[in-house]
Amino acid sequence: MSGNSTYQPQSKVLQWFEKRLPIGGLIHSSFVAYPTPRNLNYWWTFGGILSFMLGVQIITGIVLAMHYTPHVDLAFKSVETIMRDVNYGWLLRYLHSNGASMFFIAVYIHMFRGMYYGSYKEPREVLWILGVIIYLLMMATGFLGYTLPWGQMSFWGATVITNFFSAIPGVGEAVVTWLWGGFAIGNPTLNRFYSLHYLLPFVIAGVVILHVWALHVSGQNNPAGIEPKSDRDTVPFTPYATVKDGFFMAVFCIMFAWFIFYAPNYLGHADNYIPANPAVTPAHIVPEWYYLPFYAILRAIPDKLLGVVAMFASILILAFLPWLDTSRVKSARYRPLFKQFFWLFFAVCIGLGWLGAKPAEGIYVVLSRILTFYYFAHFIIVLPLLGIFEKTKPLPNSISESVLGSKA
Ligand code: HEM
Repeated sequence: MSGNSTYQPQSKVLQWFEKRLPIGGLIHSSFVAYPTPRNLNYWWTFGGILSFMLGVQIITGIVLAMHYTPHVDLAFKSVETIMRDVNYGWLLRYLHSNGASMFFIAVYIHMFRGMYYGSYKEPREVLWILGVIIYLLMMATGFLGYTLPWGQMSFWGATVITNFFSAIPGVGEAVVTWLWGGFAIGNPTLNRFYSLHYLLPFVIAGVVILHVWALHVSGQNNPAGIEPKSDRDTVPFTPYATVKDGFFMAVFCIMFAWFIFYAPNYLGHADNYIPANPAVTPAHIVPEWYYLPFYAILRAIPDKLLGVVAMFASILILAFLPWLDTSRVKSARYRPLFKQFFWLFFAVCIGLGWLGAKPAEGIYVVLSRILTFYYFAHFIIVLPLLGIFEKTKPLPNSISESVLGSKA
């Protein structure tokens, strides 16, 4: 679906190069001439913001790695040295730690946008599944990174997460020992987590390339949820989408900067400023905010193995969304009932997030069970049935008609 490139380099040297490796033409057809639906709103700027944030995380991470020491006796101290003695080390670290949170804010907006406008439906199923794989990789990377400062939450978070695997029947204990690289969490654990934390962002970058490739094959969805039919329905990616993406990226960066300069530790946990101590368990072990809904699902179920299964299932079920949602209409704009259930589902996710931060006792457990039930019911019961029984609104004849009305 990439625009037909008429790209011709100006200089003789570039023409020589282009003949041998037509990279200029590829960039031109993908990011300049590429036909973009004319009705995209600001929710479509988050893919660009995510690409930018991936770049920020990789660059700040590489520089942090130049000063960080992956050893249980030195890791905590090396992070304090970065904060106090390395020139602008505090800025680098706050960019990276708050950057992780911003990355997740952006990815959640990007995913809910996809769910609202039905962007996972035919012909974008593979694009969506690649997104789910990126999301899983992001969660693993975030977890591994959080262990590196070797504070109390690093250590105890690593303990809780690695212990999930002990629930595997029969071989659970052996798997955990293998993951740890010993009989307890120790230096080999920290070293392998560091190695993987450095590696995974590049794997993510690779999957993002496939994601954007798949996007360019199917073309972008849009708020009307109907495919472009003629040139009147699209505009060239540059300048229209580039300028819009750039503007919103700047707005996003203002929020990012606000956290870095005014509330750099707001999204973290105070206990991670205490060095890891295997002999002292913190009163409440809480993961980073972006894992909280899944943590609530884990703890809602009394059986350890079933809890772990439910937690992983709550993410994996996303991959089946293109087939669970049976409606032929994509956008919630033309699906009045779906729109209400979408917002209910959104509220349930926020509710689960809130519950994940509460102690697993009394009313909180009861509420977690109800919301966990609804979370799965949304995918397994509500979406398949809505597709059959919902009366959708009439779709516009074309994207330009949805923008301009009958004038189109
Ligand atoms: C590092 C993370 C990611 C990056 C850099 C990224 C990048 C992009 C870009 C550049 C676009 C096109 C612009 C836009 O629609 O906003 C896009 C579209 C899309 N992404 Fe992602 N993405 C990421 C993660 C995800 C995840 C986690 C999912 C879902 C689970 C996802 C699902 C989609 C879908 C369905 C579209 C097509 C949207 C449409 O055309 O309506 N992406 N992505």
